[in-house]
Amino acid sequence: MNENIDVLFSQEVLENRIKEIADKINEEYKGKKLHMVCVLRGAVFFFTELCKHINVPVTMDFLVCSSYGSGTTTSGEVKIVKDLADPIAGLDVILVEDIVDTGVTLNALKPMLMTRKPASLKIATMLDKPSRRRVVLEPDYCAFEVDDLFVIGYGLDYDQKYRNLPFIGVYKGE
Ligand code: PRP
Repeated sequence: MNENIDVLFSQEVLENRIKEIADKINEEYKGKKLHMVCVLRGAVFFFTELCKHINVPVTMDFLVCSSYGSGTTTSGEVKIVKDLADPIAGLDVILVEDIVDTGVTLNALKPMLMTRKPASLKIATMLDKPSRRRVVLEPDYCAFEVDDLFVIGYGLDYDQKYRNLPFIGVYKGE
């Protein structure tokens, strides 16, 4: 194990909690279909683990959104770098994120997607850092709230590294 990383949520803890979120979604969308949208790149592990446990019919799409560049604080300007492949009009959509930090990304992304007239649009996030919020934004589903720590792994990066760790850790620096 890297001595600069402390484990915050083990793979087992994450997977058990993600299953609970999926159960809640299954209950709430019973009899419906779901269009799951993954906000790349960070959400990729959470997205796949969550989707594995959803038992209503699922379609999937992906978008790349960027507001951070290579820095660690948001620039405030949100761009869709790669758009969805398919329209979302009339669909029940869940937008899947790895982390809600300042909330700036989703605060921009949600209205952009709402103009495409989905039947509904909810937000599922693996982590929430409410202490960092700059806008009013509440995820509909959240696996864990975290303090203002530098979290990596399970999709989350530090300068594009550590995304592949199968757990979430706290990065303590080089
Ligand atoms: C991260 C994360 C969210 C956003 C959250 O994306 O995936 O999209 O920042 O921050 P906010 O609430 O302060 O807006 P990032 O731009 O780092 O891209 P990545 O998913 O490729 O890591």
